[in-house]
Amino acid sequence: MIAIVNIVHTKRKIKKMKKFREAILEGIPKTLPKQKIRNLNISHAPNRKHILNNEEKKLAIRNALRYFPKNMHNDLAKEFLHELNEYGRIYMYRFMPEYDLKARNINDIPHRSKQAAAIQLMILNNLDHAIAQHPEELITYGGNGAVFQNWAQYLLCMQYLAKMTDEQTLVIYSGHPMGLFPSNKNAPRVVVTNGMMISNYSKQDDWEKYNALGVTQFGQMTAGSFMYIGPQGIVHGTNITLLNAARKVDSKAIDLSGKIFVTSGLGGMSGAQPKAAVIAKGICIVAEINKFALHKRHEQGWVDEIYDDLDKIIDRALEAKANLEAVSLAYCGNIVDLWEKLVDRNIKIDIGSDQTSLHNPYSGGYYPVGLNFEESNIMMSSNPDKFKKYVKISLNRHTNAINTLCQQGMYFFDYGNAFLLESMRAGSDILDINNKFKYASYVQDIMGPMCFDYGFGPFRWICASNSKEDLLKTDKIASQVLKSIMKTSPDDIKLQMNDNINWINDADKNNLVVGSQARILYADSTGRIEIAKAFNKAIAKGEISAPIILGRDHHDVSGTDSPYRETSNIYDGSKFTADMAIHNVIGDSFRGATWVSIHNGGGVGWGEVINGGFGMMIDGSKDSDKKIESMLHWDVNNGIARRSWARNEEANIAIKRAMKKNTNLKVTLPNICDDEIINNLNFK
Ligand SMILES: NC(=O)c1ccc[n+]([C@@H]2O[C@H](COP(=O)([O-])OP(=O)(O)OC[C@H]3O[C@@H](n4cnc5c(N)ncnc54)[C@H](O)[C@@H]3O)[C@@H](O)[C@H]2O)c1
Repeated sequence: MIAIVNIVHTKRKIKKMKKFREAILEGIPKTLPKQKIRNLNISHAPNRKHILNNEEKKLAIRNALRYFPKNMHNDLAKEFLHELNEYGRIYMYRFMPEYDLKARNINDIPHRSKQAAAIQLMILNNLDHAIAQHPEELITYGGNGAVFQNWAQYLLCMQYLAKMTDEQTLVIYSGHPMGLFPSNKNAPRVVVTNGMMISNYSKQDDWEKYNALGVTQFGQMTAGSFMYIGPQGIVHGTNITLLNAARKVDSKAIDLSGKIFVTSGLGGMSGAQPKAAVIAKGICIVAEINKFALHKRHEQGWVDEIYDDLDKIIDRALEAKANLEAVSLAYCGNIVDLWEKLVDRNIKIDIGSDQTSLHNPYSGGYYPVGLNFEESNIMMSSNPDKFKKYVKISLNRHTNAINTLCQQGMYFFDYGNAFLLESMRAGSDILDINNKFKYASYVQDIMGPMCFDYGFGPFRWICASNSKEDLLKTDKIASQVLKSIMKTSPDDIKLQMNDNINWINDADKNNLVVGSQARILYADSTGRIEIAKAFNKAIAKGEISAPIILGRDHHDVSGTDSPYRETSNIYDGSKFTADMAIHNVIGDSFRGATWVSIHNGGGVGWGEVINGGFGMMIDGSKDSDKKIESMLHWDVNNGIARRSWARNEEANIAIKRAMKKNTNLKVTLPNICDDEIINNLNFK
């Protein structure tokens, strides 16, 4: 009986696989598929602003119809107009694939080029319903971080990737596959640009308009570069930030144990805070006003205990502090009420931050104190001016409470959510006597000098076999490599090395994989190269069963120019330039990347950042070894050289070390002028 069931099961599987492969190879279907309705059980992108006039709507529909044969135009034109009127964009829901979008073993994906199959695997993962925020609108994360603008672009790209060879390169303009162009086996298989605009057309409404026309998209960071690996990345980054914040407040601290971290937000990225704090062995109190978000994170096990009584949650935190217990506690309510209660009770807090969505303060990113969740939601649309006043008053109270606790010794940092900026705009007491912010951002104080300037950044890899066994082997290899490098590491990077050894040793236990079999850790140039080479060797020996895909987050040393985040600790005036990110992607492309991408927008918003990344498939060959050495070295040292030229001391040390190690590296070093000479100049 069991044997029969197994045979039926296998037959079904083979049939499903055949359908999947056929659908990919077909691309745009030859006959019009059945109309599809949106799945109401999943999250959908908010309806976008209606920005096009009727003439522009005609252009948007004409643009969309370019993907389809003439005989479909009559039906589709009406349907696309309906989508535009209803949702503000044309997603082409009718063309959503029938098969499951998810990472699979690379050999199950139709291909002529293994490298192209690796890219397909990553695209499928970025659109997996377990991963993507609004999968049917092709949005992976961040509200508008798109993989493609519409389903026609997806279908065409997957078809091109399935049919292309290692003598071709697929060119993608903001999700649109311009086509396959002859190249060579050492060239990238795919080159992606997202949201590249003429500078004067890079305001928020330009994105609304040109995205609605179907000619550009917001690729966020790893959404439009196919390198997103689910929530693991943000847990790791937050963990590293908290460990280093603990050391900033206490030079003897190894981790966060015995320290209380207070913050807000249990949403997309903010929801990583309690889990990351517990992995760092600390105590986290997090306020979340949205019951739905709070319970979701509790059910997922990302936050341990929930409270709606302020005294009880504070008492519980104090008890955990006394017992050196690692625990996360969520307060169901407003963060301002929590801060004010801590002031009233005169509680000593070690570290504070905020992760409400203040990059969007007046349309639901920040819930003001004095209104409950529902009242806020009504007022923000029925009386936006009154709501704005509430937000401003709330931010004033918010900063006053933080100021009081900081005067008593708390260390507060901005978590890249525009807390300082919006508090200032609200007229809060957030500037010092020199008219500068009283507090630093996490990159200025922590990530920049402690990680990026030394070359430490979010290196990641994905097992193309899609097998957990392979992932566990890579964990072991990465740990061994880092331990061996650490034996001779200079003292100033030993702590970073150690954090990442601990992280990788516990990674499986912490149950971080969602979607593809992926892993992340922070490593510098040497660490990234040595880990990758060890993987390559293990693939060659057959210890790892299939190729590995290397990549990184764009939130890194060299890939991103973003004056209020990644490059906020650059003080020579160059933080408003984007040469580093552009050089990075060009340099990666001719040193061995399998695909490269460069984006406008991402994290802090359209027009505010240029960021890029790469993917590299390694297959155990000598060629892969050469590419690893050449490309990963550049991908890190480009940024260290720029940071060193900006007079960042840590980067100066790191680049000198890199030049010693590789004598082909010759970087222009800055001469540091004595302050006295500048201060004695007469400017009258
Ligand atoms: N974690 C990081 O590394 C990182 C890096 C850069 C930027 N950010 C920024 O952090 C912010 C949060 O990102 P997200 O993806 O979690 O956004 P999100 O909107 O999914 O989550 C924010 C949460 O804050 C809650 N909230 C809002 N006002 C509140 C209040 N007054 N009291 C209590 N809870 C309140 C909301 O209900 C929401 O659940 C964004 O601005 C993002 O750009 C985070």
